[in-house]
Amino acid sequence: MTRRAIYPGSFDPMTQGHLDIIERSAKLFDEVIVAVLVNLDKQPMFTVEERVEMIRQVARWPNVRVGTFAGLLVDYAIEQQAQVIVRGIRAISDYEYELQMALMNRRLQPGVETVFLMAAEAYSYLSSRLIKEVFKLGGSINGLVPEWVEQRMQEKVKG
Ligand code: PNS
Repeated sequence: MTRRAIYPGSFDPMTQGHLDIIERSAKLFDEVIVAVLVNLDKQPMFTVEERVEMIRQVARWPNVRVGTFAGLLVDYAIEQQAQVIVRGIRAISDYEYELQMALMNRRLQPGVETVFLMAAEAYSYLSSRLIKEVFKLGGSINGLVPEWVEQRMQEKVKG
């Protein structure tokens, strides 16, 4: 049986922490689908298409592909025939929300298992939100996001 995992998120933008989790997942599973949430409520920095393109450019492992989903994550998992949802855990503060989501997803779809992975310590404080804030205020984000992503961010502010 093909072990297929989904790594869902907003990825606005993808950080080195996300990339690290993708790399770890690619080693553990036969196939990994990085799934970008189409969320019409939020005011993102990048469009879904831009985020998909950024991930494609950077997450270049042969068993990794990028998709998008709207609606329930577990429905997407079933549609994609994925048995596993991967989530990255940074500090213990992430745990509460992640536990809620994992248990809700299990209730909705008992056949889909959530697996938590820890990114390298060097990235354990990174979040897309913080990176955007530092970047917008003129701070250096070098090394915190892939080079390609940083360039796209520079282009965004230049208009
Ligand atoms: O990167 P994020 O924003 O932390 O990712 C959150 C995400 C996309 C995993 C979560 O919001 C999600 O799964 N949304 C889809 C809607 C859904 O299934 N909600 C019920 C989850 S219990």
